[in-house]
Amino acid sequence: MERVTLDLLQATPFVETSQWHRAIGRAEASFESLKQETGPGSEWLGWRRILKNPDRELLARLDTHARQIREDSDLFIVCGIGGSYLGSRAVVEALAGSFPGDGPTILFAGHHLSGRYLQQLIDFLDREVRERGSRVSMNVISKSGTTLETALAFRTLRNWFDRVYGSDAPSRIVATTAPEGGVLNRLASQFGYQRYVIPNDVGGRFSVLTPVGLLPSGVAGIDTEALFEGARAVFLRLEAVPKPVLEHAALRYCLHEQGRAIDLISSFEPNLSALSGWAQQLFGESEGKSGNGLFPASISYTTDLHSIGQMVQQGRRNLIETILEVEEPLSGLVPGDGVSGEDGLDYLADTPYHEINRQALEGTVEAHREGGVPVIRVRLNRLDEGALGELIYHFELITAVYVYMLGQNPFDQPGVEEYKKAMYRNLGKGDA
Ligand code: PA5
Repeated sequence: MERVTLDLLQATPFVETSQWHRAIGRAEASFESLKQETGPGSEWLGWRRILKNPDRELLARLDTHARQIREDSDLFIVCGIGGSYLGSRAVVEALAGSFPGDGPTILFAGHHLSGRYLQQLIDFLDREVRERGSRVSMNVISKSGTTLETALAFRTLRNWFDRVYGSDAPSRIVATTAPEGGVLNRLASQFGYQRYVIPNDVGGRFSVLTPVGLLPSGVAGIDTEALFEGARAVFLRLEAVPKPVLEHAALRYCLHEQGRAIDLISSFEPNLSALSGWAQQLFGESEGKSGNGLFPASISYTTDLHSIGQMVQQGRRNLIETILEVEEPLSGLVPGDGVSGEDGLDYLADTPYHEINRQALEGTVEAHREGGVPVIRVRLNRLDEGALGELIYHFELITAVYVYMLGQNPFDQPGVEEYKKAMYRNLGKGDA
């Protein structure tokens, strides 16, 4: 059963048949070199290998551990940046909802350098412990172990754990990092943190289905086995019949070739904003090389129709849109009766919000397409673990295929080093 379908009908009319056929041929060749592991960066294909040969023991250990953390934590901090936190944030926000539920509340740190945020987090933790006896645990995630944002936040938060939990602090900390070497491995050995490994052949932004994404998701109460199996099911299906991914990649390639420069990745559900953010990184860090790539911008509708809707409708015609949709109604809530009907909304009193939102989506697609913006619609049949797992792998695969079509390595990010060099120089780091 397909849980994610692509609707390209509002985008393909922008592409000539001859261009389309050429691009499909190129996508087929790219997919083949991915399968044969002959393309650039083929030492980074672990995100496929983990689905081909799942490590069931690891998945079971993660599940048991996540349940145990759920039992003894009220707050759970995920300390990481980029690929080391965007995936878990996407899954948690999509499936666990916008507000604290009955399990631990997931908090994020280490994803920027703001002392104000970190101070506010520490003040919040202190208040929670003091006034409600909240129990706090943390998962620090960094493959390199050297990423400044994460390493600094971890240092500060470790001090907080030491202050509050004393000799028990290490038992409340889990480290997820590369198989060997690096600061986090050293600290884990020195203090006895529980440790998970990010396989050497899995890059950060492709790591959501490893302990990087699975432990925090499990702590949030998400069925990580179903998430993983959703991804594995579509992996197996697409190995045999890759058509949806080839068409998706070919379409982006044609539109890019025509001079389109920006891909607005949106949804009409606030719970999917972090998922757009994850896709933004996956696309952006993978394809933005050698002057190539569609600039991915994660936006949220209908909210942003009131901020950049004007630009999308009538600004420079260099955009495409990717809209993440959910078919099944997520709530039956209706607006309800007004007090005296004077707000003019009685005609919507019994119409579920889902239907109102759906009509907004259909209206937006129609208006934007009429305005000259090709729209790619990615539809989940429902918002659950299986469908999300499918979507995650679909996006990983389309990224790799599309970037191979551009003739580039999807799995490195050499440009990210530039700001680091300048920052370390400014900070006076010895070997910068
Ligand atoms: O996709 C990537 O490789 C990056 O976004 C990394 O995940 C990010 O830079 C964090 O790196 P690390 O996990 O080494 O701290």
